[in-house]
Amino acid sequence: MKINKIYVKSKNTRYTIIIGKGSLGILKKQLNKLCPRTKKVGLILDKNIPNNFKIKIKKQLKKYNVYVYEFLPNERLKSFKKANSLLESLIKNNLSRNDTIITVGGGIIGDFGSFVASIYKRGINLISIPSTLLAQVDSSIGGKTAVNSVGGKNLIGTFYQPKLVLSDLTLLKSLSKRNLVCGFAEILKHSIIKDGKFFKKLDKDKNKIFENFNFNVLAEIIFRSCKIKLSFVNKDEKEQNERMILNFGHTFAHGIEAANKYSGKINHGEAVLIGMILATRLSFIKKVCSKQTLDKIEKLYLNQKLLKKFLNFLNKNNLNKIVNFMEVDKKNYDKKINLILLKRIGKTTKPGQYRFSPKEMKNVLKKIIRF
Ligand SMILES: NC(=O)c1ccc[n+]([C@@H]2O[C@H](COP(=O)([O-])OP(=O)(O)OC[C@H]3O[C@@H](n4cnc5c(N)ncnc54)[C@H](O)[C@@H]3O)[C@@H](O)[C@H]2O)c1
Repeated sequence: MKINKIYVKSKNTRYTIIIGKGSLGILKKQLNKLCPRTKKVGLILDKNIPNNFKIKIKKQLKKYNVYVYEFLPNERLKSFKKANSLLESLIKNNLSRNDTIITVGGGIIGDFGSFVASIYKRGINLISIPSTLLAQVDSSIGGKTAVNSVGGKNLIGTFYQPKLVLSDLTLLKSLSKRNLVCGFAEILKHSIIKDGKFFKKLDKDKNKIFENFNFNVLAEIIFRSCKIKLSFVNKDEKEQNERMILNFGHTFAHGIEAANKYSGKINHGEAVLIGMILATRLSFIKKVCSKQTLDKIEKLYLNQKLLKKFLNFLNKNNLNKIVNFMEVDKKNYDKKINLILLKRIGKTTKPGQYRFSPKEMKNVLKKIIRF
């Protein structure tokens, strides 16, 4: 199978995203080429990755001093406290700035490990090996690193770019269907905000992701999805304006996750799926999008039996909590909640165009959760 490469170039960045079946096999060569002075590697691993991959990665790193850190990922890992203990251990093992941190895992390991890499000695080489669909299409791209605060999700972090993103499609074979759905949520978001044709393709091909694992279809979907994300990131790396469009559905999602205390009951991608429906319903009642647009998106969800299941997470009791967490979203610059709405599939409103007071948001939420 062909390996796809995306060369990322912006004002401050230059790195490559490599996507393909078996692409892990080129880690050794790439590390040698990109970080020639590296002697020690801090390998930050997701515990749930199948052993054969862990062995394969370690084999490629034979010539280095490798310090392995394995974590069971959950949102509680993304904390200052856990980051600090990893930093102290890296210092104890005396990794220099020429050495390299390699993260292998989903978005949680990626956000956490890259945050640590970005502040360790003011920045150490970073190679990212995303192992979930969500991480391959979204979290490993764009340079956002994060840990959570008790006040809200991803409120502490940096912008830091890796030397390389290596996406091996075979890693996705061991993912649960639930986690494939999470990645699909971000892929769907990319199509909804930017590319109507891609949305149609996803509607047609979704079973090739969920039912029959078709590597060619997956490779193309991941490639297109990364390109859409990059089209926003490259214009606005530090999220001052245009990049905020990528947050479509996410302000609701972060509120829902926080109100559920980041428990395993609902994960990020599932919250994003709910968030996108709420944002589209709101777009409809504000006369920003048509009923036809809303129906097309809801139909895709209903086919997946997702919508009904997920909306059960929203009830009158936790609406206030959700809105309270939405108030601390990073896109807000005053007391109002700043939302991206949808005009039609492929086109959103501009950042800052639609802002709601918390009171208005509570009222509107009551309307849009049961339609
Ligand atoms: N930095 C960004 O730009 C950005 C963007 C989107 C999401 N995120 C963050 O990403 C996180 C969610 O990421 P996620 O959905 O990948 O969740 P995750 O990291 O929790 O991974 C999901 C589950 O899959 C398991 N797993 C990982 N790789 C596996 C494999 N190959 N085989 C079997 N199991 C595997 C993990 O152990 C975990 O149980 C959230 O914290 C979110 O805030 C960050």
